[in-house]
Amino acid sequence: MSLGILKDIAWLGAGFVLGAGGSLFLRETFYKDELDSQGLKEELTETQVRLDAKSREIKTLQDTVRSAASPTDLTAALAGIVSIVTRHMEVDLVAFLLLDEASQELVTRPGAYGLEKEEQIYKISLMDENASSVRVFKTGKPFVAGDAQADPGVITHYAKLWDIRSLIVVPVSKQGHSWGVMRVGSRKPYAFTQEHVDLMGAIAEDAAIIIEMSVLNQQLLSDREQLRALSRMKDEFVSTVSHEFKTPLTTLAGFLGLMLEGEIGPVSEDQRRFMVMAKNAVERLSNMVSDLLDISRLESDMKMELKRFSLTPSLSSIIEAHNLEATAAKKEIHLDSPKNLPEALADPKWISVVAENLISNALKFTKPGGRISVSVFNKGDCIETIIEDDGIGLPQEALSHIFEKFYRASNARELNISGTGLGLAISKKIIDLHGGRLWLESSLGKGTKAHFVIYSVNRYGGPGQNRTETMQEA
Ligand SMILES: Nc1ncnc2c1ncn2[C@@H]1O[C@H](COP(=O)(O)OP(=O)(O)OP(=O)(O)O)[C@@H](O)[C@H]1O
Ligand SMILES: [Mg+2]
Repeated sequence: MSLGILKDIAWLGAGFVLGAGGSLFLRETFYKDELDSQGLKEELTETQVRLDAKSREIKTLQDTVRSAASPTDLTAALAGIVSIVTRHMEVDLVAFLLLDEASQELVTRPGAYGLEKEEQIYKISLMDENASSVRVFKTGKPFVAGDAQADPGVITHYAKLWDIRSLIVVPVSKQGHSWGVMRVGSRKPYAFTQEHVDLMGAIAEDAAIIIEMSVLNQQLLSDREQLRALSRMKDEFVSTVSHEFKTPLTTLAGFLGLMLEGEIGPVSEDQRRFMVMAKNAVERLSNMVSDLLDISRLESDMKMELKRFSLTPSLSSIIEAHNLEATAAKKEIHLDSPKNLPEALADPKWISVVAENLISNALKFTKPGGRISVSVFNKGDCIETIIEDDGIGLPQEALSHIFEKFYRASNARELNISGTGLGLAISKKIIDLHGGRLWLESSLGKGTKAHFVIYSVNRYGGPGQNRTETMQEA
C-alpha cells in the first residue's frame, strides 16, 4: 500500500467520525489530487469499504457506550465503558485514571481491565512528568507508543509489569476541563493505528461528559440533602421555641386571670384596663404559638386519625364559643345543617381546627353589623361546609397566595386587622392530609365564601356513586 493511501486512511478515519458529510468531502479531495491509475482506484475503493465498516463499528461502539452510561453511578458507568471496549477490541489493558483533587494524583478507577489486584490501585502524582499519563493530562494531547517497553516517553517499569507493548493514552476532558486519562494497551507491538487513537479519543470524550454529569448529579444530591437538613433544623427550632413559649405564657395568663378576678387583692379601674390589654396580648401570643406548633407538626406529615363523628355538634360548639364576641360586635352567626347528614369520616380534632380558623376569619374580617352563615351539605360520599360572610372580601390577586404561610392580604393589613397568616395554611394542609378540598371564593368589599369538603362514612359501603367525581363536584 502506498504512503499516500496510508496517510489518507488516517484522514478518512477521522473524517468518518465527523460523519457522512465530512467523508464525502475528503473523498472528493482525494480523487482530485491522487487518483490517476486504475490500481490505485481499486485499492482506495477497498480501503473505503473497510473504513465504511469501521465507521459503522465506531458509531455502534459509541452508541453502546452512551446507552450503558448512567451518571448516577460513575463507577459502574466507567466499568461499563471498559467492558464494552474490551469486548469490541483486541486489547489487554483498559483503565481510567482520574484526578484526585486532594492528593493531586491520577488514580486508577475501579473496574480497570488487565490489571492485577495491587495494580488496580495504581496512582501517579501530577509531579511525575516522566509518566505519559501525566503529560497527556497536562497537555490534553493523546500519546501513542508502538513499543512501550522501549519507549523513552513511558515509564518502562510499568509497561513491563503489565506486559504491555502497544499503548494509547487519551485525555478525558471536556471544554478545556481535564478529568483524567484513559489508557489502552496491547501485548502486541505496533497494534494500534490512528483509527484506534481517534476511536479512544471519542470514547474518552463521552466518558468526560458522563463524569461531568455525575459530578453535577452528586452536587445536586448533596445540595438537596443540605436543604433538607436546614429545613429539618428550622422545623425543630420552631417546634422547640414554641414549646418553650407555652409554659411561661400559660403562667402569665393564669396570674393575670387571678388578678382580674380580684383574688390577689383589690384592682383599680385603670389597673383592670391594662390587665385586660395584657391578657389579650398573652392570648394572641398563645394562639400564635399554637399555630406554629400545629404547622410544624402538620409539615412533618403526621397521620390523621380517621373516626366517625357528627360534624354538626362540632360546628355548633365552635359557633357557641364565638357568640359572646360576635354579639358584642353586633355580628350575626347562623348554622344551617341538614337533619339526615351522614357522619363524617375524618380526624375530629383537626377538622375542628379548620372550622375554628374559617369561622374566626369570617368574624374577624366582617364589619360590625355583618352576617356570617355556616351551611353544611350532604353530598353522598362527602360533606361540604360553606362559611360565608359579607365582610371586607379579598383582592383578586390575593386568592392565588392565600394558602401560603404568613400571607396576609393588603386590605387586611391596611385595616390593621391582627393575624399571623397561618390559619389558612394550616387548614389547607389538614384538608389535604384528609384527601379533601378547601377553597375560597371572594369579592373585594362584598364578602367571602370558604368551602371545605371531607369524606363521609358513605364513602365505604354507601350508595354506589362515583366517589372521585363526588369530591370534585362538591
Ligand atoms: N373571610 C375572610 N375575609 C377576608 N379576608 C380573609 C378572610 N379569610 C382570610 N382572609 C385573608 O387571608 C389572610 C390569611 O388568613 P389566615 O387565616 O391564614 O391568617 P390570619 O387570619 O391573618 O392570621 P391567623 O389565622 O394565623 O391568626 C388574612 O390575613 C386575610 O387577609
Ligand atoms: Mg385566620
